[in-house]
Amino acid sequence: MDTVGREELIEALNMLLEAERAGARVGAALVHQAKGGAFEALAGVIHDDEVRWSRALFEALKAIGAEPSDKVGDFYDRTMAIGGLEDRLAFVNRGQGWVARKLRELTPRLEAGPLRTTLEEMLEAHVVNIDAANRALQAASPSDR
Ligand SMILES: [Fe+2]
Repeated sequence: MDTVGREELIEALNMLLEAERAGARVGAALVHQAKGGAFEALAGVIHDDEVRWSRALFEALKAIGAEPSDKVGDFYDRTMAIGGLEDRLAFVNRGQGWVARKLRELTPRLEAGPLRTTLEEMLEAHVVNIDAANRALQAASPSDR
């Protein structure tokens, strides 16, 4: 497996940053929408995590002397186009799966060090949250999932 070149790495980190930033905005909307309901805690976890990893990716780009993107991924608009809370959460979870796949491809190609450690933690956190969201969605509507 090839080591990731600098340009490819910056592109990948910025793509993930834009996705997580979109996720943070989606998370804020979900927190608002889920208030007082069964998915309130889950929405809070999603929001906090997206904010956390947006920051981590921003810092990671700075740490390698790269310019962090200031864009928000189109994931925000795509999620907001979905009306119902459960359908939105399911869509967000598929987005989280996409992020996990990207991280799974990227991390083995990085040299051992702080960046690889951060991205491995990000992958692990995404895997844990995807499972938690799937369980919460299943508990809410066991018949149709
Ligand atoms: Fe995420």
